[in-house]
Amino acid sequence: MKKLVILTGAGMSAESGISTFRDSGGLWEKHRVEDVASIEGYIRNPELVINFYNERRRQLPTVKPCRGHELVAELEKWFDVTVVTQNVDDLHERAGSSNVIHLHGELMKATSTRSPNDPSQIQTLTPEHLDIHIGDKAADGSQLRPFIVWFGEAVPMIEQAAEEAMQADIFVVIGTSLNVYPAAGLIQFVSPEVPVYLIDPKDVTWTSGHRYTHIKKGASDGMQELIEKLTS
Ligand code: OAD
Repeated sequence: MKKLVILTGAGMSAESGISTFRDSGGLWEKHRVEDVASIEGYIRNPELVINFYNERRRQLPTVKPCRGHELVAELEKWFDVTVVTQNVDDLHERAGSSNVIHLHGELMKATSTRSPNDPSQIQTLTPEHLDIHIGDKAADGSQLRPFIVWFGEAVPMIEQAAEEAMQADIFVVIGTSLNVYPAAGLIQFVSPEVPVYLIDPKDVTWTSGHRYTHIKKGASDGMQELIEKLTS
């Protein structure tokens, strides 16, 4: 089976009703990114940051994977698929994708403030215990925090994602403005002869030298068209 690697961003989940960040009406118009999504912001005001992610997490049970997520999962009928996502929701998993790498963490997980990337500190939150509170402790006794990669923090999963990108026979980018590194740099690891597809209703600033086919549609319609192209 050919190896197909997909990089997804907030646009992938837009049709499920989750706001993107940089579109008009997006999350970064309502919140200052340096306050709610940076390590400095967390150190300054942990409660604000914890509550911001509590709100995002409470939204999860109210949304469902869109047709686009389902079609990404269906690609496994024809390809060996790895999804590399910048999204912290669990909609790819809920749609049935088997290999999902979360570059920016996962909303449904919590970890320790002292050693956020130590696997023994990471715990999965449950529907009965969705919120994190000030005073909740991780296994090492430090404040429990969201398992999210904030600006100013290392992105430990990027190495595994780069390995996948290097082995890709087909590379697909869905719903990301490619503003945030190192995620946006993953394309540099893809071999120059590999076909690259972009699914996004808007033009995206594309800095890599790779040629790509732009399917200028939303995630669901765009995935439908991609499957027709790849399987005909
Ligand atoms: P952005 O909000 O920057 O970009 C969203 C992209 O999705 C844009 O290119 C839109 O045109 C596109 N889009 C909108 N609706 C769509 C639809 N229905 N179908 C397909 N595409 C659609 O979001 P990201 O690029 O994911 O990180 O942002 C990257 C990172 O910046 C996030 O992971 C987050 C944020 O700050 C952290 O918080 C660490």
